[in-house]
Amino acid sequence: MKERSSGLIIGISIGVVIGALLAIIGLLCFRFHRKRPQIGNSSSRRAATIPIRANGADTCTVLSDSSMGTESSRTSVQNGVPFWFGGLKKGHVVAASGILEYSYKDLQKATYNFTSLIGQGAFGSVYKAQMTTGEAVAVKVLATDSKQGEKEFQTEVMLLGRLHHRNLVNLVGYCAEKGKHMLIYVYMSKGSLASHLYSEKHELLSWDLRVQIALDVARGLEYLHDGAVPPVIHRDIKSSNILLDLAMGARVADFGLSREDMINRNASNIQGTFGYLDPEYISTRAFTKKSDVYSFGVLLFELIAGRNPQQGLMEYVELAAMNTEGKVGWEEIVDSRLEGNFDEQELNDVATLAYKCINRSPRKRPSMRDIVQALSRILMTRHNKKHHRRDSSVIADEVALNVDQLGRRSPMNGEHRRFESFGSTADSCEV
Ligand SMILES: Nc1ncnc2c1ncn2[C@@H]1O[C@H](COP(=O)(O)OP(=O)(O)O)[C@@H](O)[C@H]1O
Ligand SMILES: [Mg+2]
Repeated sequence: MKERSSGLIIGISIGVVIGALLAIIGLLCFRFHRKRPQIGNSSSRRAATIPIRANGADTCTVLSDSSMGTESSRTSVQNGVPFWFGGLKKGHVVAASGILEYSYKDLQKATYNFTSLIGQGAFGSVYKAQMTTGEAVAVKVLATDSKQGEKEFQTEVMLLGRLHHRNLVNLVGYCAEKGKHMLIYVYMSKGSLASHLYSEKHELLSWDLRVQIALDVARGLEYLHDGAVPPVIHRDIKSSNILLDLAMGARVADFGLSREDMINRNASNIQGTFGYLDPEYISTRAFTKKSDVYSFGVLLFELIAGRNPQQGLMEYVELAAMNTEGKVGWEEIVDSRLEGNFDEQELNDVATLAYKCINRSPRKRPSMRDIVQALSRILMTRHNKKHHRRDSSVIADEVALNVDQLGRRSPMNGEHRRFESFGSTADSCEV
């Protein structure tokens, strides 16, 4: 009997010890899983993202029917401050705008010691960086003659980092080390619109895609002008500042970079790019939203004609305008490589809009909001026409089927390579 009870005691003790061990293991596992999402991918960055408050709001400001893009997944930040934020050092305050501070060493490694050059512009060189986390980013090394101090640079970066829109090339980070100022952007895998319009290595851009690109750009600019607080005037709209993502969605790059305080340039010098400059700006030296509208008009003509403004595009346009009788007759300037594959009505509508944008009098130019609505309406009409055609072809097919039960259905037209979206308010536009 005594033996039985001591066996029972031993059995219970072992059970209790095993139970306690399992409980401790369970607790440890639970804590590990809770921490893992926050510590992942931290090796290449010093700080981590905290909520973006675009223009003081919890979410990005959305105009028309735009929404945030998908390429910069790490910046699609959750609401609420992560628990570990309190532990960040003072030097990481800039991260409060939602962007990251990258280390020079990591960027040096990710760009193969700054040899992976993808472009060179007025503000410096751009490199592709393949981070150890697997993500690719574009690193813009600003011209070294900048006299801007680190604090001012961080302030600028913080302001730019607040701007988020699916039609902007979002700023995701910065680096200010070793006397260098670098801006880190989402990598745009399809390159610039300029390269698609002028380089032989790319497939020809279809007319349909050109109009969709125009609407994307207009939406990005509309956000900068009317959604950002304070509003941002781009000052350097041109085809090499329009970048394309994997789905051929267009995004505006280099917003906010042309300001005198962002990079050290002589303020009395003309800024912007020859061929896109508002004549009014050249005489007054005052950049307004309507100067961006002028440059956008030039970009529209560039899309129509497939011709570079530095190669006499505007002279070509002015000559054609003499024969357009106001709203029709723009066919003569269309990119000949399209071989007639465009809708004549759409072409005349887009060209008429573009011509309004380049009016010498800024007051007579439409606003970016008007332009978004006008382009949305053009795409809406196209969409309705296609559906109408599709519906009639289905009816015709059904009639044919009734006549001949063995008749074959004709295949429907293929979908666009891109989803076309447009604002629901399109019809209210006066442009
Ligand atoms: N985020 C990016 N993703 C991919 N390529 C980029 C990116 N930013 C810039 N580039 C490339 O680098 C080139 C140079 O850019 P930039 O320095 O802004 O000069 P510019 O705009 O005058 O061409 C661009 O034309 C583009 O091809
Ligand atoms: Mg650029």
